[in-house]
Amino acid sequence: MSASLYEPVNVYKPQGPDIGVVDGPFEYLTVAGIKLPLPFTTRMTVVRLSNGDLFLHSPIKFASTVAEELRNLGRIRHLVSPNQFHYAHIGEWSKAFPAATTWASPRVRQRARARHADLTFARDLEADPPEEWRRDIDQTLFPGGYFKEFIFFHQTSKTLILTDTIINLELDMVDEPWRTVTKLTRMAYPHGRTFFGMRLPIFLHRRKAQAVINKLQSWQPRRVIISHGRCFDANEDEIVRRIFGKPA
Ligand SMILES: [Fe+2]
Repeated sequence: MSASLYEPVNVYKPQGPDIGVVDGPFEYLTVAGIKLPLPFTTRMTVVRLSNGDLFLHSPIKFASTVAEELRNLGRIRHLVSPNQFHYAHIGEWSKAFPAATTWASPRVRQRARARHADLTFARDLEADPPEEWRRDIDQTLFPGGYFKEFIFFHQTSKTLILTDTIINLELDMVDEPWRTVTKLTRMAYPHGRTFFGMRLPIFLHRRKAQAVINKLQSWQPRRVIISHGRCFDANEDEIVRRIFGKPA
């Protein structure tokens, strides 16, 4: 068994009204500037706002075919880094679409600078959604310590858009050492759960975490999109309750 992609890659896959995903090619873990032979998959979420602008969450590697397909859906206007680990391809998209705004997550500027990434962030994500997408998307900062990330909620489709907060890897689609790590940290499909690095910060900041969890439960999501592993196909209500607990 070897690492597998979520085929077809680089193709827009609708998930609901005005929302879809594009699965990307393999990414590789890089440590101290060295690319390691440890492939993993990642997924971009695309929301078409009611004014026709497109919101690209965690853009995958730029490909002109994807750009062309998206251009037919709307104007590419927002390139969003939801956490400091998801930013690598924003520069490529920004070059192709210079009118698009680049949105920074906490610490991503420092991280990008330290890795000599060729990109500039124009705006910072904040606790509340900006004017640009407030009508369509709500957001909140999930307190995962070093791994904190912005979580988004697309109102029309009632979709929770997560990055690393929940991981749900299919064991037969990943190589070692991911397989062992995934098993040990209990992040395997179909019982994926919060990223293990976030669990201690969530525990230490219980009150803050609970306030955020209450907010995302108040959204009553019907779908959950994640960046790594398989998205949950059914009974999203149950998923949210199982992972985050009952509404307070
Ligand atoms: Fe990630």
